[in-house]
Amino acid sequence: MAPPSFIIVAIDGGAASGKSSSARLLADRFDLLHVDTGSFYRHLTAELLRRGVPATDLPALRTALGALQLTTRVEGRSARMLVDGQPAGDEIRSEEVNRHVSHYAAVPEVRQTLLGYQRGQTEVARASGFRGLVMEGRDIGSVIFPQADCRFFLHADPVERAKRRAAEGRQDSIAERDRLDTSRKTSPLTCPPGAIDIDSTHLTLPEVVEKMSTVIAARQGIA
Ligand code: C5P
Repeated sequence: MAPPSFIIVAIDGGAASGKSSSARLLADRFDLLHVDTGSFYRHLTAELLRRGVPATDLPALRTALGALQLTTRVEGRSARMLVDGQPAGDEIRSEEVNRHVSHYAAVPEVRQTLLGYQRGQTEVARASGFRGLVMEGRDIGSVIFPQADCRFFLHADPVERAKRRAAEGRQDSIAERDRLDTSRKTSPLTCPPGAIDIDSTHLTLPEVVEKMSTVIAARQGIA
């Protein structure tokens, strides 16, 4: 029998909806490269803050973005973005970055800078011998890979999501980021037509992953 072909899995959803945990487990299970695009937006935000370029100063933003070199390092099953050869530090999960990231992510030039880079992760995955990739974010199934083999959209009740962040010991402006991400003009957070909508409020992580795995396995013809 022919080996299953290269597969693209898209997972979108709001902050703390369970995207990263499920994407990591799916990557292990199906031998996929895990691409966390939120970490890319966070890394760019941290870098622009470090350089003192505000999201509101478009000319300075354009100049800074045009000069950045984005490359990828594969660590285990994860794609790490390098900015001018440097990996992201812990500060990308800081309160400061949490507060600013959605403002930078709403700027079309920032999204445009990451568009081709994100699509290029398929080449990284192929070159590294993976059977496909699982990419998580806000606009993966709608803009980056609308033709992905499997597209999932994760929902969870805001109270439950706040509990999840608190359990991780992290401060996060979940509601405010969701508000900004949903209402922006360019590539807003939305469940695209045809995506599989999963409400994870009352599901455990293994249950969410099981639901997704059934769909992926069926798509690969290995169900
Ligand atoms: O996934 P995470 O919560 O780490 O993403 C951080 C922020 O990056 C989001 O709140 C959103 O503003 C932005 N983002 C985005 N599009 C993506 C991934 C993340 O706008 N595909």
